[in-house]
Amino acid sequence: MEKEIFFSKKEIIESLSLKDPRDLFFCADRLSQKLFDNKVYIRGIIEPTNFCQKNCFYCALRKERQISRYKMMKEEIVDLAFCAYQKGYGSIVIQTGENKSQENINFFVDVVRRVSQKTSGKLGITLSLGELSKEAYLQLFEAGASRYLLRIESSSQKLYENIHPHDHLFDERLRALEDLKEIGYQVGSGVMIGLPFQTIDDLAEDLLFFKKFDFDMIGMGPYIPHIDTPLYLYRDRIILKDVFNLSLKMIAIARLLLNDVNIAATTALDVLDPKGREKALLCGANVIMPICTPLKYRKDYKLYVNNFLGYKNAEDCLNRLNLRLKGINKEMIFYHLGDPFHYFSRRKKEDAHKQI
Ligand code: 5AD
Ligand code: SF4
Repeated sequence: MEKEIFFSKKEIIESLSLKDPRDLFFCADRLSQKLFDNKVYIRGIIEPTNFCQKNCFYCALRKERQISRYKMMKEEIVDLAFCAYQKGYGSIVIQTGENKSQENINFFVDVVRRVSQKTSGKLGITLSLGELSKEAYLQLFEAGASRYLLRIESSSQKLYENIHPHDHLFDERLRALEDLKEIGYQVGSGVMIGLPFQTIDDLAEDLLFFKKFDFDMIGMGPYIPHIDTPLYLYRDRIILKDVFNLSLKMIAIARLLLNDVNIAATTALDVLDPKGREKALLCGANVIMPICTPLKYRKDYKLYVNNFLGYKNAEDCLNRLNLRLKGINKEMIFYHLGDPFHYFSRRKKEDAHKQI
């Protein structure tokens, strides 16, 4: 494995401030090529419900927003996962708003168990269901989920508190991330870039936070103000300029700093640039998540106003992405779990530490 590159905070700030980041992007891509060749890991994303008990100030799915809410039947979710498996996906992500009720946990424990049984444990199952109790995370892990995504959104407690209501506790988010790691999940996190009040210093701290927490996967993208959310009122408090290029710099530095982690090219990038995800894959990202949620539901899972869905169904979404990747000489990798190398190097380090 590549030798780790150490960045001081000062160097991170300098890299984030680069007027011409071409060398940075080149180095990040070279490291990606060493780690993954020209291969891109794929995860089929399934969004079984848009219900959420939370009220994050930036999010279009927040509980107080009046939108049409849906919830798929268990069979429907299992069928979508199986269909993805048959198409050659090595891994899926099940993503929903947050619902801590035991009924909801039981529902997803059963879904995970059934998907795992139906695919003989060969389909990687990633969950992104928000902050749950350690007990719930454990039940889901034992049912067959191996990865969990939970963004810290911002590692600055002050900024976190600015973009969430009082009862959304920063410490609770940290606790959840610790629990996931202790249970043995491959843990992913990330932040939004270009939030009101956010500074370059905050972003540098975010990258150092990823390093300190030793995450296995990173997913981050630009903040896209949504007119129907409270944070929209503060859009004139956005300090950072050129949020798209700043997002690419965050990805490139994350690759160099965190080395063998998986980094997603997120859909929010496409909102600011039609070639957003390709550009991310050319400066450090190595994961893409084609949407497997049927369109009849997807229209109600829109986090950004202007993200044109632009595909007819899951197959069409996959084909279109495949074409885009071919255009940059990258290739989706099928029938492959795409586990983050970092998970294994981290576990090895942890085991060695225990023996001392
Ligand atoms: N802009 C960008 N990202 C957003 N998310 C939610 N709302 C927005 C927005 N307006 C991201 C958050 C959340 C994930 C599901 O989507 O980071 O964790
Ligand atoms: Fe719910 Fe997640 Fe949106 Fe917050 S970011 S309101 S938890 S879906």
